[in-house]
Amino acid sequence: MTIPLRGLEMRSTITADGVMDLRLVEAAVADPAADEVLVRMEATPINPTDIGLMFGPSDLGSLESGTADGLPRLTARVPAGAMSFLRLRLGQSLRVGVEGAGTVVGAGERMRHLEGRRVAVLGDGCFAQFRTISGDACLELPDDVSAAEGASALVNPLTALGIVETLRRNGGRAMVHTAAASSLGKMLVRLAAEEGIVLVNVVRRPEQAEMLQAIGAQHVLDSSAPDFKDRLVETIASTGAMTCFDAVGGKLTGRILWAMEQAASRSATSYSRYGTAAMKRAYVYGTLDPAPVEIGRGIGLTWSVSGWLLFDFLRDLDAVAQARLHDRVRDGVRTIFASEYGHPIGLADALSPEVVADYARRRTGPKVLIDPQLGLS
Ligand SMILES: NC(=O)c1ccc[n+]([C@@H]2O[C@H](COP(=O)([O-])OP(=O)(O)OC[C@H]3O[C@@H](n4cnc5c(N)ncnc54)[C@H](OP(=O)(O)O)[C@@H]3O)[C@@H](O)[C@H]2O)c1
Repeated sequence: MTIPLRGLEMRSTITADGVMDLRLVEAAVADPAADEVLVRMEATPINPTDIGLMFGPSDLGSLESGTADGLPRLTARVPAGAMSFLRLRLGQSLRVGVEGAGTVVGAGERMRHLEGRRVAVLGDGCFAQFRTISGDACLELPDDVSAAEGASALVNPLTALGIVETLRRNGGRAMVHTAAASSLGKMLVRLAAEEGIVLVNVVRRPEQAEMLQAIGAQHVLDSSAPDFKDRLVETIASTGAMTCFDAVGGKLTGRILWAMEQAASRSATSYSRYGTAAMKRAYVYGTLDPAPVEIGRGIGLTWSVSGWLLFDFLRDLDAVAQARLHDRVRDGVRTIFASEYGHPIGLADALSPEVVADYARRRTGPKVLIDPQLGLS
């Protein structure tokens, strides 16, 4: 195909006077360097992390749509109290969209083998018609896998594999997982079954529990149920799940650590003023509840709470280990690591206030998928 000199891409800026500005721009298509490829983007999902970068902490009730240079644009107010956290991004026009899939239409001399191949890519700037990116950030997809099927082949699948690996490094084989009805949660249910990991799934609505049970989850607890606290202690005691991967935060992290301490105290044989000797770990890997993470007392002194980020996990892996993870994802892209999507929308549609109101809820169900090649409506 003839490569156009320019293509549309989505950019997010927060200005020093407190305005979030999300717009489409026409940008030059960069020629790939020796170890890069040029990908014609065909499918890219809107993930929770993208919503965070697109809108920051802006007040979505103040969204206003308009145009800039004839292209769609959205603005919103950023509350004054949030501005101090944003100092490092003020005034920068940031590229949006952390992953996606498309066809390699140009390749540097060391990446010629990818020419014409369909690939999944990981790296900001995927909400774009064309993306020039390191060949190492690409996963070559099997011939019969469409761009839509490969669009979410990296962030959530690698995170699910990273979570299991992190659990194992700590010697664990059972864990609590929150917001478990998420796309990632469903992958983890299927992966845990294959890996022999015992998963205690925490959801917040009865229909989410039914959905996970239908795909084979054995332990599912609904945090809105009146007996949640007791059932959580009971299930942790019976499974030995002393590690939690928590995408929610807020009060939930502390409630789970408390339940772990209660469960551990059941098998303790003597009293210690320091609490039980059982190590309790919480990895807070998402911010679905924007409230501060709250850890109460009653959990003894043997515990840890830390963040967990896919990119930190990947940085510590050598090339062989990364290739092994890619192979694993490729094998399961239509099974363990499959995602569901609604009807694809165009880049401009993703800037419609009604569409934003829908995907910004980060609700359970099919992800919103952008096809950047769909024309502007
Ligand atoms: N740290 C990392 O490297 C990393 C990597 C990948 C993903 N993640 C995180 O993993 C999480 C899941 O991602 P995904 O793409 O699978 O999400 P998703 O499919 O969009 O699902 C989001 C889920 O979160 C639930 N949820 C939203 N707000 C909640 C709240 N306040 N309390 C409890 N549950 C809430 C939703 O349930 P309702 O329908 O009930 O709202 C829904 O089930 C996200 O937080 C994402 O940022 C982190």
